[in-house]
Amino acid sequence: MKIGISKGRVEEEFYKRLIDRKIIDNYDSNSRTYETDVDNDEIYLLKACDIIPFLNDRCIDIGILGSDIIEECNNGEIVELGDFDKGKCSFTLATFPNIGIENIKTVATKYPYIANELLKSMNLKCIIKKMNGSLEIAPKLNYADAIIDIVETGNTLKANGLVELLRFNMISTRIVSRKENQNETEIREFVRKIGG
Ligand code: PRP
Repeated sequence: MKIGISKGRVEEEFYKRLIDRKIIDNYDSNSRTYETDVDNDEIYLLKACDIIPFLNDRCIDIGILGSDIIEECNNGEIVELGDFDKGKCSFTLATFPNIGIENIKTVATKYPYIANELLKSMNLKCIIKKMNGSLEIAPKLNYADAIIDIVETGNTLKANGLVELLRFNMISTRIVSRKENQNETEIREFVRKIGG
């Protein structure tokens, strides 16, 4: 079976879990290869945004990633099998301290679908501008009045002089598969082993 695991904050917690459960002996975070073999399974370290397309195209069987990406990219074919209750963060609407919510006309985000839903729920009409990272620089460069991004410690916002206007739903690490495969023994066994 092929398992895709998201690079970054999810990765560290997941490999620690594999070591704690004696599934692997050690983990080299500097390794430049993408594959680890565990029993009969192959674990691939992937960019979070590639995991859902890889699942959809049957390149991998299981994905382990943040619920932010699942919500942004899921086309309804992917189902959650467990919540690790780790990698916790939230969505936030953030801008400079002197900007009020009524002044926000443009919002930069890596999550256009979610941003649209959140803005709609607040009855705010804004232009959404897609970015791929380093969102916190957008207000300073006048690319957007505010950002919708994930926040964990708040350190990145603070370092860039931004404050949170609103905080939204909680994000955590989830284990997913294609809907059609969710009851397969191998998949259920892996979820049990990994404790999702
Ligand atoms: C996220 C987010 C912020 C940062 C927030 O980026 O886009 O930049 O984490 O974390 P903090 O509140 O603890 O400072 P991430 O590290 O996931 O990297 P990315 O920008 O490459 O997606």
